[in-house]
Amino acid sequence: MLPEVTAVRYVTPLREGGSLPGIVEADDLGTYVMKFTGAGQGRKTLVAEVVCGQLGRRLGLRVPDLARIQLDPVIGRGEPDQEVQALLKASGGLNLGMDFLPGALGFDPLAFETDAAEAGRVVWFDALINNVDRSWRNPNLLVWHGRLWLIDHGATMIWHHNWPGARTSAAKPYDASDHVLASFGPDVAAAAAELAPLVTEELLTEVAADVPDEWLAGEPGFDSPDALRRAYVEVLLERARTIGDRITIGERTADQPSQAPEWVRVRLDGKAAK
Ligand SMILES: Nc1ncnc2c1ncn2[C@@H]1O[C@H](COP(=O)(O)OP(=O)(O)OP(=O)(O)O)[C@@H](O)[C@H]1O
Ligand SMILES: [Mg+2]
Repeated sequence: MLPEVTAVRYVTPLREGGSLPGIVEADDLGTYVMKFTGAGQGRKTLVAEVVCGQLGRRLGLRVPDLARIQLDPVIGRGEPDQEVQALLKASGGLNLGMDFLPGALGFDPLAFETDAAEAGRVVWFDALINNVDRSWRNPNLLVWHGRLWLIDHGATMIWHHNWPGARTSAAKPYDASDHVLASFGPDVAAAAAELAPLVTEELLTEVAADVPDEWLAGEPGFDSPDALRRAYVEVLLERARTIGDRITIGERTADQPSQAPEWVRVRLDGKAAK
């Protein structure tokens, strides 16, 4: 089970995060990035953070430690932002925390290097969990003490949004063309040979056991949290066997040229755009 702590101080919101995660201090003197159960993205985002974060760590990738955080919304009383207030009020009880890495920098492929072996491991792992959120536009990788750390696994395992179609969805290939590490020549074959055998039923069962029952309860088509945990295990187990052969790395999608508003085009061209 993940360690459980209680938030004692709301420090500040992390504005870059779409889900408005916040930094909190907890009663173990730790500082955590807290992802709220009341955020619009819903509790499946938190389930994905736990399953994929724990799986990544067990495969030897660096992921900040996760914790369950109990929140009493009263700790945010001094926070002036209405949006934050609403989020805290909607998130009383159990939330997810990840160890805050002080001084970590966002990964910039022009400023940091990684080798083909590490790039391969990250790309293979992202293919396994079908991560669509590690692109050059939004890397969700940090550099801390000179090493890569993986964060933000909320937008993964698209199949858990539609369980009846999960097997078909999980059998699909993974296009890594826009992956932030695609330019480092990821050795996906070596990563698959090393990591796929580690993704066993036992390991996945342990990882799924770390998801709190209350984030799994009530899923249509499943009688119990354990039945749903089983579904996560089965899909990932199956995908781990073959995904290495279904990863493509092609041309990166070009940045969309920005569409200037008409009044700008009129001034630039000296004539109205039709
Ligand atoms: N453990 C951490 N240590 C230090 N900084 C972190 C940590 N986790 C997240 N951050 C910072 O907070 C930002 C937002 O976090 P994260 O990407 O997990 O949130 P999000 O709401 O899922 O974001 P989005 O969906 O917009 O990508 C990150 O880009 C990073 O700058
Ligand atoms: Mg992010």
